[in-house]
Parts: sequence; structure tokens; C-alpha cells
Amino acid sequence: MPLIAPSLLSANFLNLDADCKMLNESAADWYHLDVMDGRFVPNISFGPMLIEFFRKATTKVCDVHLMIEEPEKYAEAFQKAGADILTVHYEACTHLHRNIQQIKALGMKAGVALNPHTPVSLLYDILQDIDLVCLMSVNPGFGGQAFIPHTLQKIQELKLRIQEKGLNVMIEIDGGVTLQNAKSIVDAGADVLVAGNTVFKSQHPTETILQLKNIQ
Ligand code: DX5
Ligand code: ZN
Repeated sequence: MPLIAPSLLSANFLNLDADCKMLNESAADWYHLDVMDGRFVPNISFGPMLIEFFRKATTKVCDVHLMIEEPEKYAEAFQKAGADILTVHYEACTHLHRNIQQIKALGMKAGVALNPHTPVSLLYDILQDIDLVCLMSVNPGFGGQAFIPHTLQKIQELKLRIQEKGLNVMIEIDGGVTLQNAKSIVDAGADVLVAGNTVFKSQHPTETILQLKNIQ
């Protein structure tokens, strides 16, 4: 059974209270919170201030996906805001190992996200130090894009490596996850499914979350 992490980027920001209540009463495991700086990605979303509100609104895991440059400047602010997992992009970190050390020293779980063009093998020398790999299955920046099929091969390759090394690293898939493709993603080896539009544009979000959760 995968963990389900609805992406609040697709929520109704005039109705966040109701959307949080819906998630809290649903089978969702995590809140996936997308931070964008308008530099690393061509979009701007929200920062620590809003995450502090989400932290107060839920006891579920706050999974913060930083699509920003220089994440070391803000790691502490996100920890104070209540992030449980802090994920930085491989492509934004010249000294990735240092970034990971910083995140862990602040008491958070550490994740690394890869853009669609970045091979999973580039993480082989840091896998033992991290808790989660977020494979982007769309180009980061926007919700509602189509899943890139090659991601399935990346999941399989990464899963094999994690198992061979006996590591405890979760694989999270972010972008374009639907009720139609979720099974193939889980079968390939994904542990966590992020879903924005699939959940929040659904007629019955709670039911959709449950359907994603029951995929096996
Ligand atoms: C994209 C974000 C995703 C996005 C997913 O850059 O990282 O988390 O919100 O949205 P959907 O599921 O609609 O592709
Ligand atoms: Zn994300």
C-alpha cells in the first residue's frame, strides 16, 4: 500500500480550512507542500509562513518540497515552520552532502528530488545518508502536467539499488499521478504517491485518496 501525499498546490486557497479538514479526515498520509522561488522553477508559490499554518492545521507529516536555489539559507526557517521532511533538488545543490547534513542536524528527515533528466545513478554516493528520493515525473513548477513514462524505468533502477544495498530510503513520485497510472507506478517500486490535481480536482477527493491508497 503506497503512502499518499496530496499536493496542496492544487488546493483552493480561499478554502484552505475546508481542504485541510478534508485531508485530515481522509486516508492521506502526508501533506505535500511545494515551495517555489521563481528562480529554480518558473513559478512562485509559498514559503515558511504558509507552512506554519498547515502545521497548525494537521498532525499529518508535513513533506516540504523545496524547488528553490540556495536551500541552505532557508532550511532553519522551514524547520521552525514545522516541516517533518525537507526535500532539496539535486540540481540546486553544489554541496548536496552538506545540505543533507544540515537538514538532519535540524532534526528533519532529508529528501533529494531529481528532475526528469537527472539519472538516479547520480545519487548512488549519497543514498545511505538520505531518507527519501523524490523522482519528478514532470518538469517541476506546475501542477496538472502529464506523467513522463520514462520515470517508471528510473523507479525500477533506484528500487533495485536501494534493495541491493539494504537501505531504508523511500521513493516518492511527484507529478502527473492519476488513478489510471498509479498502479504501474506502485508496481515499479514507488512508496509514496504525490497527487495534486487528481485529488483536488476530483468530484470526491476523499474517495479518490482512498482509491489511490488501495492500489496494490
Ligand atoms: C510540481 C510539484 C508537484 C505538483 C503535483 O512542480 O512539485 O507536487 O503539485 O501536481 P499534479 O499531481 O497535479 O501533477
Ligand atoms: Zn512537489
